[in-house]
Amino acid sequence: MTAINIALDGPAAAGKSTIAKRVAAKLSMIYVDTGAMYRAITYHYLQNKSSFTDFKTLISNIQLELKYDEEKGQRVWLQNEDITEQLRENDVTENVSYVASIEEVRTFLVDYQQKLAKEKGIVMDGRDIGTTVLPNAELKVYMIASVEERAMRRLKDNEQRGIASTYEQLKKDIADRDAYDMNRAISPLKKAEDAIEIDTTGLTIEEVTNQIISLANEAIQNA
Ligand code: C5P
Repeated sequence: MTAINIALDGPAAAGKSTIAKRVAAKLSMIYVDTGAMYRAITYHYLQNKSSFTDFKTLISNIQLELKYDEEKGQRVWLQNEDITEQLRENDVTENVSYVASIEEVRTFLVDYQQKLAKEKGIVMDGRDIGTTVLPNAELKVYMIASVEERAMRRLKDNEQRGIASTYEQLKKDIADRDAYDMNRAISPLKKAEDAIEIDTTGLTIEEVTNQIISLANEAIQNA
């Protein structure tokens, strides 16, 4: 088991999950996508909106499980159903930043994420991993890219997944979601002081992956 944790944060559609998956595979670490957890609670909230009272009650009835599939990677199970494919749907994306700003939701998920990372060997991506979830992570990376490039990447991603979207709409949605995530009261999106910033604009997936692997190898040696 690799004796370090890697925290990977940054704004929406910066390529965090693509890179995190590759880094994890290369270093025999486990990739944890925390955005998927906030999306799962959002999905649950939307499904139960007619009977919704408050988030405390919603969370107390939630059965959330992360499972790992050799081929497909992290799968998210909610109330005994694999909902991974539904997590990228537009209504989930439109509501996730609101749900993620709720204190009860964050407390529940941060606790879950910290437990997952206890044994080390985790590459975790999100918004507050370096600042709040894993403040002692041996390597912290903050990935950014221009909003134009991020919208373009997300457009291609959505096309592959069969999700309808347009470049202009994506650009607006990404900018709005970043603003919401950066300005919320509880653990907003921001670079941890000791994180290494990588601007991935114009870089290939391979280049960013290699950069992070060499940083990780240094961190492993120092651990
Ligand atoms: O990474 P992804 O785009 O799937 O994240 C969806 C949303 O979940 C973010 O826009 C943010 O509002 C929330 N999130 C968060 N903290 C994390 C991960 C995601 O607030 N660690």
